[in-house]
Amino acid sequence: MKERNPTGGSPEKKAAGLAAAGLIKDGMVVGLGTGSTTAYTIAELGRRVDEGLDITAVVTSYQSEMLAIDAGITLTSLAEHPELDIAIDGADQIDTALNVIKGGGAAHTREKVVSFSAERFVIVADESKYSAQLDHYVPLEVLPYARELVSKFVRKIGGDPVLRLASRKDGPVISDNGNFIIDVSFGVIEDPAAISALLSRGAGIVEHGIFTNVDEVYIGKMDGSVEILRS
Ligand code: 5RP
Repeated sequence: MKERNPTGGSPEKKAAGLAAAGLIKDGMVVGLGTGSTTAYTIAELGRRVDEGLDITAVVTSYQSEMLAIDAGITLTSLAEHPELDIAIDGADQIDTALNVIKGGGAAHTREKVVSFSAERFVIVADESKYSAQLDHYVPLEVLPYARELVSKFVRKIGGDPVLRLASRKDGPVISDNGNFIIDVSFGVIEDPAAISALLSRGAGIVEHGIFTNVDEVYIGKMDGSVEILRS
């Protein structure tokens, strides 16, 4: 198995990612999230698979698919395994009520599907992601055809939309599902469930990055410890 040091990784992310990997037992069907923190979880599960751990996994992106294949983890699909024992994923911001914003890696649509397929949804993050209130931009996966309609809609509900541009390609970021990403700033989000419900009603929005279904959060600290928060 190749050892990978994920871009954007850190000792705090590693502590959280490894601690959550400890939740995985023989026979489980596991949802594997996307990002530099879950990359540590995937690498650790690969190490344990080499030692005999027997699991099957569903990925949330091409990134987690490539990491899981490198790690030697057996993959399945939601069509074959619609009920997962657990999903482990990263976050861009977490509030004290464990509402989470995701989608910094443009993978939040599949991440949301996987999280809702799981009996237990666990977030792994470093402590910089924890905040009294959510004020991070909210990523929207949007049908390219509907981008102007969606921009108009989010302005009407108080958001400031920005089309996410690629850094090593001209033009917009294209998600794993072939869609655009629009990042929307709302300032401080006083009521995440209300904004989530509004965004879910917008035509052309495939999925938004507010998650209100988190069971546990593993927060990695500078001193190597991990704090576990439960909803
Ligand atoms: C991808 C995500 C990631 O989980 C989120 O951006 C956190 O990434 P990282 O663990 O690299 O900080 O939502 O769409």
